[in-house]
Amino acid sequence: MTVAATDRLIGPHGGTLVDRTGDRPEDLDALEQRALTSRELSDLDMIASGALSPLEGFMGRGDYERVIEEMHLSNGLPWALPVCLAVDAAPSGDRVALTDDDGRPRAILEVDEVYDYDKEREAELCFRTTDDAHPGVARLYGQKPLYLAGNVTVFERAGAAFPELARDPAETRRIFAERGWRRVVGFQTRNPIHRAHEYLTKVALETVDGLLVHPLVGDTKSDDVPVDVRVDCYRTLLDGYYPEDRVLLSAFPAAMRYAGPREAVWHAICRKNYGCSHFIVGRDHAGVGDYYGTYDAQLVFDEFAPHELDIEPMFFEHTFWCNVCGSMASTKSCPHGPEDRVFLSGTKVREMLGEGDVPPVEFTRPEVARVLIDAYRS
Ligand code: ADX
Repeated sequence: MTVAATDRLIGPHGGTLVDRTGDRPEDLDALEQRALTSRELSDLDMIASGALSPLEGFMGRGDYERVIEEMHLSNGLPWALPVCLAVDAAPSGDRVALTDDDGRPRAILEVDEVYDYDKEREAELCFRTTDDAHPGVARLYGQKPLYLAGNVTVFERAGAAFPELARDPAETRRIFAERGWRRVVGFQTRNPIHRAHEYLTKVALETVDGLLVHPLVGDTKSDDVPVDVRVDCYRTLLDGYYPEDRVLLSAFPAAMRYAGPREAVWHAICRKNYGCSHFIVGRDHAGVGDYYGTYDAQLVFDEFAPHELDIEPMFFEHTFWCNVCGSMASTKSCPHGPEDRVFLSGTKVREMLGEGDVPPVEFTRPEVARVLIDAYRS
């Protein structure tokens, strides 16, 4: 592979793929420590790998304010969600050791700033609600009261739950280039891949060179399908129904925010860093409950100037199985009525599985249904 081959891919956000990995400092034991939550640890790991380029650390007030108010960083680049580290009190030194919840040091933060923030304001601007029944808002309300900002150097990366699927942006870019892909569509999911997801990914793949199936493997809410079960589903579906040379399955280490529209933009920017030129945004992307309209996560992209994000969103209508068409479809492509359509939500499927019912083939491939049923039975 030549340098020119990776150069043909979309550039990272801000132009340079950040690498914030480095050596363990000799004075580590002398430093004050701060323990990170699992969401903060996933953010830390993504800063280290460049998945959050151009961020080199946890955000200072200037970036934070502009992001929550205007969806841009202070340097003018689009950015949709805060990436902040919450603490109880300002540290006394100018460097802090960041640890996981077992107290194991992972990184150093060069203290730049400590600032207070208004949780309700952040909730309203980022989640469009202050309701603490929203899982992202609840997490925000439970955070410590100050934000600690500064660049980080990570000397011990988070252990990946699925090492064979853990690929940093530099590696996905290398693989895309080796395979000769230039136009690559990224697919975010926190669910097993059902027929609707399969349809979106395949329709998208028809128009580009390759597909990155990029399931989120960080924290999700407790009633989402567990990640190990989902990974079994992805492997089973990809083995049976996708061409190996056009698809790459890889893990996206982020935690879910459930911030709907803003998270769709954030997801797209991250996938740009992984080398995707296109990104799928369907119905109620990253949504939860009834907090967002079906297409809010598509409309939000209109708030950016043309080409400002660079990565191209691919929007999809709410898709369903049509009994008359005998295929997946949407109201854009199917003329039949609601009586001919099979709409099933992930929630409905979880209910069926809980009761031991097999989801219909129009909703999920039998091989995937089998993985889910086995998991729910055990
Ligand atoms: S998400 O939180 O990761 O967005 P999910 O895994 O359900 O949840 O969705 C993955 C992607 O598929 C999102 O872009 C979502 O909008 C899209 N999607 C899911 N189901 C449908 C559907 N029936 N029709 C159209 N798009 C869908």
